[in-house]
Amino acid sequence: MRTHAGSADRLLDMTTTRTVRITVRGRLGERLAAAFDGMKLVRRDGVTDIVGEVVDEAQLHSRLTRIRDLGLELDSLSVVATDPADAKQKGATMSGLATRSNAPATGTANKKTMQRAVVDHYGGPDVIRVVEDDLPEPGPGEIRARVLASGVSFTDSQLREGTYLGVPTPPFTPGYEFVGVVDKVGPGVSRFSEGDRIASLTVWGANVEYACVLEDDAVPVPADLDPAEVCALPLTYMTAYQVIHREAKAKKGESMLVHGAAGRVGVAALELGALAGLRLYGTASATDREKVERLGAVAIDYRNEDFLERMRALPEKGVDVVLDGLGGPLSMPSFRALRHGGRLVVFGAYSTNRSVWKWIKWYATDVHVALRGLVSPSKKVRPYRVQKLRDGLQIIPKGNAKRSLLVGGGPRHPDRFGEDWDVLIELLREGKIRPVVAERIPLAEARRAHEMLEQAASTGKLVLVP
Ligand SMILES: NC(=O)c1ccc[n+]([C@@H]2O[C@H](COP(=O)([O-])OP(=O)(O)OC[C@H]3O[C@@H](n4cnc5c(N)ncnc54)[C@H](OP(=O)(O)O)[C@@H]3O)[C@@H](O)[C@H]2O)c1
Repeated sequence: MRTHAGSADRLLDMTTTRTVRITVRGRLGERLAAAFDGMKLVRRDGVTDIVGEVVDEAQLHSRLTRIRDLGLELDSLSVVATDPADAKQKGATMSGLATRSNAPATGTANKKTMQRAVVDHYGGPDVIRVVEDDLPEPGPGEIRARVLASGVSFTDSQLREGTYLGVPTPPFTPGYEFVGVVDKVGPGVSRFSEGDRIASLTVWGANVEYACVLEDDAVPVPADLDPAEVCALPLTYMTAYQVIHREAKAKKGESMLVHGAAGRVGVAALELGALAGLRLYGTASATDREKVERLGAVAIDYRNEDFLERMRALPEKGVDVVLDGLGGPLSMPSFRALRHGGRLVVFGAYSTNRSVWKWIKWYATDVHVALRGLVSPSKKVRPYRVQKLRDGLQIIPKGNAKRSLLVGGGPRHPDRFGEDWDVLIELLREGKIRPVVAERIPLAEARRAHEMLEQAASTGKLVLVP
């Protein structure tokens, strides 16, 4: 029997706070515990009990929806304790309810409007508003997804500020990536159907309740993985994976220096670098030393230590690979830190927020470094970006200018993106990578997520949830 999770609320008499036990098939990993904020996971033979208080029917319904969205199979639901006079377990058991990701999306059939975040003009976090808008309709080759989790990243702050290459002209919806469930398909769609779980690298447009994307820009997501954790893959882990394996082509036993090692991409690069058998070094703030060391790297305090000196003092007089996601003044010393045969991958412009002038200086430095790489007989410089430029080439971000040039969107090499995606999903499933979700913030509080982004880079991925 396939039953809509929403029917559960009719089976329980939810007039007051109740402690419920929701039993699902299978043993859930620790990672999924966070999806049930505050509820306890008790593992028994072949099943897991999720036990905790629910305040009302709406909350119970939302827990059950989450179970369905995670692709878990619901075995039973029961009230396990109420007041002392009613200590006996109450009936209300629903054996055999299946909660699959291909069950219809709750309420979508009648839904006409949705929430979406909007940047009306470039600026700080205060420019973010959440508005009610019409549900989008998928066009030819497009799928529409009910978004389960969407990301808020450093790059989103550059888009919001108007200092990102390929930034759209406001008003636009921010959000570089999302994970969702397909709820409608447009004409000519062949790879996905309703109920499929997908992820997409949107570059912007992900911070919404429902998003339409080309099916070619979507990748499949297994329904048993936590959408918030998967949301760390399309931008953060994909970038880290591709700069190590596609650009630097790092080999087991080589050494690698990661700048911004305690940041989101930095942590992913250390995790993936350790899996690749690399010897790791990471620049970070002194307060993040322990975090970097726990990930298996030698930590270098970027404010008080000279990383170039440290790399040159190594027995091999330099490092094989440098990952420079920060750019500008770091790039030239990073190039000089390479040993014979070394590779520098430059893939960010961290210090350029709010300043077109800084962009120009950043460019000048990086062009210089790229030229040094071209003429060097023994060292290479590789630029990298995860996304494509859709309509052409933009040279300088337009800041507050009236019209911005051109736009980016979707993975730059969809074929490689798809291949690397499968690898990352497998690593996540096996628990070999562990994306840290700093906080799951309701979409309605998108502005708060941007405020948090400015403050704490080393806490993990910020994820917006419906
Ligand atoms: N090309 C692409 O496709 C692509 C894709 C993804 C990301 N990126 C780029 O990658 C960069 C990192 O992104 P992210 O999401 O990881 O950002 P993040 O989470 O904000 O992390 C940045 C980290 O860098 C550290 N940092 C700042 N200045 C530093 C310096 N001079 N030396 C060493 N570390 C320093 C910060 O530490 P404190 O906070 O302690 O100062 C922070 O931990 C950004 O520039 C982003 O645009 C590029």
